[in-house]
Amino acid sequence: MAKPLLIFDSGIGGLSVLKPIRALMPAAPIVYVADNAGYPYGTKSEAEIAARVPALLGRLSERFDPELIVIACNTASTIALDHVRAALDLPIVGTVPAIKPAAALSKSRTIGVLGTNATVRQAYVDRLSAEFASDCTVIRHGSAELVDAAEAKLRGETPDPAIFARALDGLFSQTGGDRIDTIVLSCTHFPLVEEELAKTATRPIRFVDGSEGIARRTAWLTRAHVWPDIPSDSFAVFTRRAPEVEAYTVALRDFGLARIETL
Ligand code: DGL
Repeated sequence: MAKPLLIFDSGIGGLSVLKPIRALMPAAPIVYVADNAGYPYGTKSEAEIAARVPALLGRLSERFDPELIVIACNTASTIALDHVRAALDLPIVGTVPAIKPAAALSKSRTIGVLGTNATVRQAYVDRLSAEFASDCTVIRHGSAELVDAAEAKLRGETPDPAIFARALDGLFSQTGGDRIDTIVLSCTHFPLVEEELAKTATRPIRFVDGSEGIARRTAWLTRAHVWPDIPSDSFAVFTRRAPEVEAYTVALRDFGLARIETL
């Protein structure tokens, strides 16, 4: 039995990272974990995330014995990546705001960083901005309701369009915000509603996220691994049994996750 890749998020946001991983490594078995018992992460404190994520990933790696873990969550990665790496003896790939590619693309030299409240206040974002976008104005905005909107969409609901307008306005209404031409989707939930954001924007905006790079890094780190020839068993795990979990079944199947387990 091949060891799986374990892809982890607070909810279904990590599916935006799972997609390019599957495209690059179609035979790799995947255990996708949604920590719905801890959702949402973006409104939690640093201490809560730093305590919860390494402990939970420790438990999950004992249970599923993964080849590698992808923390497909900017909030968890910008706060707890070092703690997780120190605690676990296996490769850990993190997800951090794609400020570097955004800076390479921005013509107006003004970039928006749209993430969770917890992510946009991290020193990690200061460091990425200083290192890769020192000649750009970097404008940040955190939105919790946009995370909920992505969750709702994947349950088959139609989120209120005002949520997308408010998220963009949180960036555009800041000083210099009218010059933003590139937005870094700094929460893995947000590429799942990129279409809605693009439709809402009143001018052309380029949206950038780091998922393709994460997939390439994952493939590189597991390059010596021989994956099975037969289609792999890939499934989702939720950390709490809850009635709404069933509502994600159709969306999860579209992402190649055949069934749902609870921890
Ligand atoms: N998807 C997560 C991220 O990338 C967190 C969303 C949340 O739980 O608030 O930051």
